[in-house]
Amino acid sequence: MEIREVAVIGLGTMGAGIAEVFAQAGLAVTAIEMDRAALARGMAALDASLSRAVARGKLAAAGKDQALGRVTAAADLAAAASAGLVVEVVPERLDIKRRVFAELDRVCRPDAILATNTSSLPVTAIAAGTQRPGRVAGMHFFNPAPVMRLVEVVAAVQTDRATVETVADLVRSLGKTPVTVTDRAGFVANALLLPYLNHAVSLLAGEFGGSRFIPAPLLRRMTEAGWTGRKGGRGFYDYGQDSPPEPSDTPPIPPNDSPSPLPAMTLIDCAADRTEAVAADALNAMIDAAGVTVTRVHTASGSTAAGSMAPGGTASGGAGPGGPAGGDPWPWSGGDLVVVAASPYAAVLAAVMPADRSPDMVGMHVAGGRLAEVISTVVSAPEAAARAAALGRRLGLEVIRCPDRPGFLVGALLYPHLNDAVRMVQDGYASAADVDTVMTLGCGYPRGPLAMLDDIGAGQAYAVLASMHARYGDPAFAPVPLLADHATARLAFHAGESAQ
Ligand SMILES: NC(=O)c1ccc[n+]([C@@H]2O[C@H](COP(=O)([O-])OP(=O)(O)OC[C@H]3O[C@@H](n4cnc5c(N)ncnc54)[C@H](O)[C@@H]3O)[C@@H](O)[C@H]2O)c1
Repeated sequence: MEIREVAVIGLGTMGAGIAEVFAQAGLAVTAIEMDRAALARGMAALDASLSRAVARGKLAAAGKDQALGRVTAAADLAAAASAGLVVEVVPERLDIKRRVFAELDRVCRPDAILATNTSSLPVTAIAAGTQRPGRVAGMHFFNPAPVMRLVEVVAAVQTDRATVETVADLVRSLGKTPVTVTDRAGFVANALLLPYLNHAVSLLAGEFGGSRFIPAPLLRRMTEAGWTGRKGGRGFYDYGQDSPPEPSDTPPIPPNDSPSPLPAMTLIDCAADRTEAVAADALNAMIDAAGVTVTRVHTASGSTAAGSMAPGGTASGGAGPGGPAGGDPWPWSGGDLVVVAASPYAAVLAAVMPADRSPDMVGMHVAGGRLAEVISTVVSAPEAAARAAALGRRLGLEVIRCPDRPGFLVGALLYPHLNDAVRMVQDGYASAADVDTVMTLGCGYPRGPLAMLDDIGAGQAYAVLASMHARYGDPAFAPVPLLADHATARLAFHAGESAQ
C-alpha cells in the first residue's frame, strides 16, 4: 500500500516535528490539534523549525514554502478522514490515546493505518480499542524528529505483517532507518536508556546498590518540583541561565586537590598476559610522556579485574592487586607514588603499600584513556587521594573521586546497561545489530552497547557484574547467561570482531 496523504494528531514537541518530516518528504499532511490556540502554536513551531533549516543552509527558502504548502491545519479529528496513515502524537496517557483512537477508527478510511508515537504505553491495548487492530502499529520517532534518523516500528500481537511492512517502507522513504520490534514496555531504546539514566541519578545521590527500575528518589523529588528537564526549563541543569548549576540537593563535591609535585614514581607492572602487558606499557608511556620520573618493576603476581579494593593490598570481588605470592613485600623502590598496573585497559592502578601503610593506598582507574577515577577506601588518607588525583591531572586525564564500590562509577553505571542489552539479544527481542542501531541512531551513542562490549570484553563486564550482584544482591546486576557464555568462549557479539 502506498501512502500519499497522512494526518498527524497533536502538534506538540513531537507532532510538529513529525508533520515537518512528512511535509519535507513530499506527502500531503493534515495537522490536527485539539483547539485553535494549540493549533496556532503547533503551526508556529513547524514554521520556525523550517526557518531554522533554511538559516542553516539545509533547506532552500522555496523548499520551506513548498513544505508549508503541503500542510493543512485543522482542529477536528474528522479532517483525518482521507489520510492513508494517521500518526497519533498526543500526551502519554492511555485514556487520552484510546479516546483519540476510538474517534479516528470511526472517522478514518477503513484501510487507513493508525499509528501511535507512544514511548511506553502498550500498542496492543491501544489497538484493542479499535475495530481494525490489524492496521494499528507503533511508529516511535525520536526527538527532534526532523533530525533523528531512527523510527522504532512496533508490531502489537494483532498487527498485520502488511501493516508493519507498509510503515517500515514509509520510514525508509522518509530517509530514516526503521527497526521493527514487538510490543514491550520501552521497546529497545527506552527500555535500555531509562534504567541507565535512573541508575545515574541513584549514583549521583550516592546509592550504589539502588534498584535501576524503581525511579530514584532524587528523580521523584525533582519531578515534584517541576524540574522536568530541558522542556521544563530546569532539570539537572538550568536551561534559563548561561552556566548550568547542579540541583540543590546534589551531594557536595569534594574540594579541589592541591597540586602536589610528583618528582618520582614506581610503576609495578604485574601483567599476567599480553593484554595486561599492553595496558601496562601504555600506562608507562603515558606517565613517561607527562615528564614524571618513573621506575618500572615487573612482578608476575597474577591477573586482576576492575572491582572493589580492600585496604592493605587485598582484593575483593576479583579486584585490585593482591600482592605477590607467598606474602613477600612488594618490590617497590620508593618514590612519591607507587602505581600497580594491572588488568586489561589499565583497569586498576592502585597505589599499594604494605599493610601498615594502608592509609596511603588508593585506587586509580583509568577509563577510556580520558578519565581517572580516584578511589578511596574507608582508611585512605586524603593526601594519598590528592596525590593520585594530581598524577591523573598530570597525565591529562579528567579526574573524579568515588568511593570503593564494585565497578567504581564507570563500571557500576555501564556494565548493568550492557547486561540489559545482552538480555535483549538473549531473549530474542532484538538482534545485536538492531540494538546497536537503535542506541546509535535513536540515542546518539557513538558506539552501540554490544559493540562497546566487544571492545571491553565480555569477561571484564562479567567480573564486575558478578561482583556487584554479590555485593548488593539485586537480580538486575546478575550477569545474564548469554554474557557468561560469551565471556567463557571469548566470543564477540558482532561477527568479525575479536573479543578481548
Ligand atoms: N517528547 C519526546 O521527546 C518524545 C519522544 C518520543 C515519543 N514521545 C511521545 O510522543 C507523544 C507526544 O509527546 P510530546 O512530547 O510531543 O507531548 P506534547 O505535550 O508536547 O504534545 C502533545 C500535543 O497533543 C495535543 N493534544 C492533546 N489532546 C489532543 C487531542 N485530543 N487531539 C489533538 N491534539 C491533542 C496537545 O495540545 C499537545 O500540543 C507522547 O506519547 C510521548 O510519549 C515523546
